[in-house]
This record gives sequence, structure tokens and C-alpha cells, in this order.
Amino acid sequence: MSLRKVFEEHPERRYIMFGGKGGLGKTTFSAATAFWLAQQGYRVLVFSVDPQASLSDIFQRDIFGKGAVEIIPNLYAQEIDADQRIKEYQDTIRAKIREMYGLDQVPEEIENYIQAAAAEPAMEESAIFDAVVDIVVSQEYDYYIYDLVPLGHALYYLSMASVYDEWIDKITALRAEMEEYAQVAAILQRKKELEEDAILRELQYIKERINKSSSILTDRERTAFFFVVIPEEMAILDTKKAAGLFAKYNVPLSGYIVNRVIPESLASQEIPEYLRHRLAMQKTHLATIQRELGDQVLAYIPELERDITGLPMIEKMANEMFGG
Ligand SMILES: Nc1ncnc2c1ncn2[C@@H]1O[C@H](COP(=O)(O)OP(=O)(O)O)[C@@H](O)[C@H]1O
Ligand SMILES: [Mg+2]
Repeated sequence: MSLRKVFEEHPERRYIMFGGKGGLGKTTFSAATAFWLAQQGYRVLVFSVDPQASLSDIFQRDIFGKGAVEIIPNLYAQEIDADQRIKEYQDTIRAKIREMYGLDQVPEEIENYIQAAAAEPAMEESAIFDAVVDIVVSQEYDYYIYDLVPLGHALYYLSMASVYDEWIDKITALRAEMEEYAQVAAILQRKKELEEDAILRELQYIKERINKSSSILTDRERTAFFFVVIPEEMAILDTKKAAGLFAKYNVPLSGYIVNRVIPESLASQEIPEYLRHRLAMQKTHLATIQRELGDQVLAYIPELERDITGLPMIEKMANEMFGG
């Protein structure tokens, strides 16, 4: 089985993810895969949920917080600005409160609450999650490629649905608090009934979106999740551990990609002792990978002559991954 075959034989897998420790090549593979798919004529979005997003670096374009930016025909890239998203939330909540209670200004106590809620770490996570939901439910693209954050965060991200649930609980609590205040406001405005269902409806809408997106993440039909590993002992151990954890979240694993393989053909050349030593070490680790992951390995990608930035290097990487 090759990487190319997985895509050719499973055109229904439209949500693509590369997981693995930081620095192993997730962003690189995300960009190169997006590039290759776009060249095949698919409309592709590669997007990052990493606050230290590096799609801007790899495409050599400043795309942060700018929505989906067209890189080449069919290929779009997006880096989510979580802070911006939180500000938008706050504005929406303020507007809703003003509208529902017919106020010119949000009362100070409520404003304080809104400020405090925004400072919570869970808020950033929910903001990112929410942006991702927006993207994946949009149905605008043939392929959605998630440029994932490093492993630990990715796990956290996958359990985000529960984080989000917590956030909803908080809003619900706020809603209860508001009710007291609303009753006073209602009397003042001589309104008999308040449209209290509006917020509830909003919550149900959010829940629906959560269900939709988390079902995409764990959808064996439509999701392809690839693990990136390099031929080094720690990376292999780490990956095995992570694969176990991901299995718990029911993430459908499509296979492994071994990155940064020093070409073995060098061994037959005049090379320094240092490099010969590294090659020998790599051989041991490749044997381990072969033994333990075997036919689940979809590609061995060589260490290229320089880092992968700019379209020509991305294309070169795409050729390594999918064949020229
Ligand atoms: N096969 C490769 N050959 C040369 N450089 C590589 C290769 N794979 C990745 N890199 C470089 O390694 C660095 C880390 O890769 P990146 O894709 O950003 O990792 P991650 O997203 O997993 O943190 C980048 O500078 C990238 O260009
Ligand atoms: Mg990355």
C-alpha cells in the first residue's frame, strides 16, 4: 500500500490529518498533500489550528487571520486567529444581551463576566474549535487538511467536544443569572414574556455543530489520519504510545509515514565517519519500524537538502510523497 493508493482508493476520505510529535513534518506533509491534491484538480483547504501556525512560513505568504487565502488555483490555506474569534464572541454576546433586554449598554457586572470568561484557557480552545467547525461544515472544499498541533495538544483537541460542553454549561449558568436580572428588566419594560428561548435555541445550535464536527473527526468513512514518525528511538516509542491513545478516541488510523530518512545509497560512497555512523543507527531504527509497523508504513520520505518552504520545495516534497 502506498500513500497515493490510499487517496485513490478512498476518495470518500476527505478530512485529512497528520499527527505526531512536534518538528517531525506534520505541517510539511499537510502543505505538500494539499498541493498534490490541488494539482489533481480537487479544491483543497489546508488550515492550521496551531497558535504558532507555520503555514505562512511554508507558503511564504502572510495568511494569519485572513480567512482562506488562495495559494495556487484550487489550493487554499488558512490560519485561524483565536484571539480575533474570541473578540467576535464577546461582541455577539454583548449584542444579544443588549437586544434581548432592550439596553443601550451591557451592565457592568455582565461586562465583567464577559471579560473574565474570555481570559479562561478553555475559551481559546473553544474559539479554535468553533472556527474549525465553521470550516468543516462549510462543504466548500473537496478536501480539508488539518495542520495539527503537536501530539499532546492534538489529543486535547480531539477531546474538545467535552471542553466545549463545559463552556456551554457556563453560558447556561450565565443565562440563569441573567434571568433574575431579566425579570426586573421585563417589569421595567412592561414586557410580559421574554424571548428566553432565543438563547436556548442558540445552545442547541452549537451542540448540533459540535456533534457534527466531532463525528467527522472519528468518522472511519470520511477521515484519514496519518502518523508521522522519524527513524529515531524516542520518536518511535512516542508514536507507539500516541497511536494507542488515539485509538481510545476512536481516531481512524490510515497508516504511518516515515520522514527524514537519510538516503542509504550514501553508504556506498566516500562519506565521513559521522554520517556512516548515523546511517548505521538509522538502519537499526528502520528495522524496528519495519518489524513493528510493517505494512502500515505508506511512505519513506528522504531528508531533503534543505527545509521545505516555498512552492518549488513543496512540489518536490509532494513528488516524494505521491510519486512524480
Ligand atoms: N524530509 C525533510 N527534509 C528536510 N527538511 C524537512 C523534512 N521534513 C521536515 N523538514 C523540516 O523540518 C522542520 C519541521 O517540520 P514541520 O513540518 O514544521 O514539523 P511539525 O509541523 O510536525 O512541527 C521544518 O523546517 C521542515 O521544513
Ligand atoms: Mg506544524
